[in-house]
Amino acid sequence: MIVTIDGPAGAGKSSVARKLADALGYEFLDTGAMYRCVTLACMNQSVSLSDTERVAAVARNVSIQFFNGIVLLDGVDVTDAIREPNISQAIKEVADNLAVRECMVEAQRKWGQGKDAVTEGRDQGTVAFPDAACKIFLTASAEERARRRVAQLRSKQIAADFESILASQLERDEHDRTRPVGALIAAPDSIRLDTDQLSEEQVLAELIRIVQSKRQNQQGPHFTKHRQNGKGSEVRDLAP
Ligand code: DC
Repeated sequence: MIVTIDGPAGAGKSSVARKLADALGYEFLDTGAMYRCVTLACMNQSVSLSDTERVAAVARNVSIQFFNGIVLLDGVDVTDAIREPNISQAIKEVADNLAVRECMVEAQRKWGQGKDAVTEGRDQGTVAFPDAACKIFLTASAEERARRRVAQLRSKQIAADFESILASQLERDEHDRTRPVGALIAAPDSIRLDTDQLSEEQVLAELIRIVQSKRQNQQGPHFTKHRQNGKGSEVRDLAP
């Protein structure tokens, strides 16, 4: 069964989606990391991000692998490098590139075939897996997301200003929402979970409850399938 989790930046999707996959014994796909890898690969190869054709060619040719929480780009560990602010600032043009999106969605579908998996991003329930059995739209108010980001930065001793973080978050939201393809919108058949008033533990508990109830609807009340998620033993190559 495929569980999709979509929502805006800063809603806490990544961390909770990964924990949900672990709790269920499902595999996990961080699709934002895929766009981040393509952005980094272009930068490494000095490909201008505005050159849509060359960027698409990079996307078609890179090897992106996930292994036990580590992200490998053409065999090199880029887990931290893809989270650097320069990637977050530049990624817009790559995520807006239609040919890149097509290539990423194709790789996501291929990867998800026949799997029990949680996939997380912006367009998973709408474009990549429109037939997913369980779709969640995880959100929080812009103010709450900005507050969490400020707290996260300050906990790492990084100075952070609430107003400027809120402003850049609103700008990113608007861009993600108005992208012509793969825009951030809740699938009509998704369950919306607003996390403003919830701790991460509460969000996780609610997600587990939602998935279990979907699973029971699909398989009947005696469905008890459980399997190892192969942690640490499997490398998944997303290259098409
Ligand atoms: O979730 P994230 O912050 O790692 O995502 C990075 C960027 O990639 C973000 O600007 C939106 C984009 N993205 C997308 O367009 N489609 C996805 N499925 C996942 C991420």
